[in-house]
Amino acid sequence: MKKLLALVLSLVMMCSCIVMASAEAPAKIGISMPTQSLERWNRDGSYLDEQFKSAGFDTILTYSDNDSGRQVNDIQNMLSDGVNLLIIAAIDGEALNTVMDEAAEAGVPVIAYDRLIMNDAVSYYVSFDNYTVGTLQGQYVETALDLANAGDKTYNIEFTAGDPADNNAGYFFGGAYDVLKGYIEAGTLKVVSGQTEFSAVATAAWSTDTALNRASNLLASYYADGTVLDAWLCSNDSTAMGVAQAIESNYAGNNAVVVTGQDGDIANLANIVDGKQTMTVYKNVKNEAVVTLALAKAMIANEEIGEALASSFGVACAYDVESYETSEGHKCPSFLLVPSVITKDNLQELVDTGLYVMGDDGYLKAAE
Ligand code: BGC
Repeated sequence: MKKLLALVLSLVMMCSCIVMASAEAPAKIGISMPTQSLERWNRDGSYLDEQFKSAGFDTILTYSDNDSGRQVNDIQNMLSDGVNLLIIAAIDGEALNTVMDEAAEAGVPVIAYDRLIMNDAVSYYVSFDNYTVGTLQGQYVETALDLANAGDKTYNIEFTAGDPADNNAGYFFGGAYDVLKGYIEAGTLKVVSGQTEFSAVATAAWSTDTALNRASNLLASYYADGTVLDAWLCSNDSTAMGVAQAIESNYAGNNAVVVTGQDGDIANLANIVDGKQTMTVYKNVKNEAVVTLALAKAMIANEEIGEALASSFGVACAYDVESYETSEGHKCPSFLLVPSVITKDNLQELVDTGLYVMGDDGYLKAAE
């Protein structure tokens, strides 16, 4: 009897040790970012990594060099390493099905970070309001050219959109195009190349060189005869960088061309100061990491996730259960932060975030 009691006691102690160990072992978070070749993902990766680590989590952070196969591998390795939760900014939103199914089988929840993944294993989506990013770009062009009061005047514009593999790209382009469509139909805005379809203006991998080459070709084909170019709607900063370079080298006109962008990349902010780019839609990715951490904590603690959580972040963020689907009819609850417009007139707003400093040379730099 005594022996039995001792055995039961030691079993109870063993079990409580296991419970304690697992309760105390920090949860491990897999953070999969697309590439280090575009400025913003370096910032996203390090903010996420720092914030999760300071909150006591273990992390694995990978960048997959814009190679979808490599991203699948990276995520599979994280699953073998026993991560408890995955945060993924997909290179190709349609190419992660197998590994998403593996995550679901292993019971590992997934937050789609910034870019949606087309698989129902995704529990939540954290991003900015992507359609609004495009709307802000379109409205900027509308105001800069004063299209509403154009009367008989006409203006010429071209479009450069993002990577078709990135689910965001269509939202950015759609948001911008919807603002300008009426002016195009009325003839106030003319797309001289005739290229208005997303598929024609898209830029694989958001590549600066690809955007530069296409813009140079369009300038040579449609503007070399002195046709005035008034605006070039670019969906983000990496493509705006290529387009601005093409305009600088291959556009003969001497008017200032309105060029839009997105992200607040350091090199593009310098172009804004120099008048080579006109605006960027800024998205504070440090706050995107704040929201992701708070959401991950709530998921791990099995807390209720909804409006109340969204209003507790201390960062403007909408809880949206309608806008995004991971498959037809399968809505993905989303936390959407708010983008803003930066021009040369309000660069101070970036300095006020604490993430940029103004150098003595008048150009912004990343804060240390
Ligand atoms: C992001 C943009 C970024 C683009 C290229 C998009 O998914 O939302 O901020 O400019 O990818 O990296």
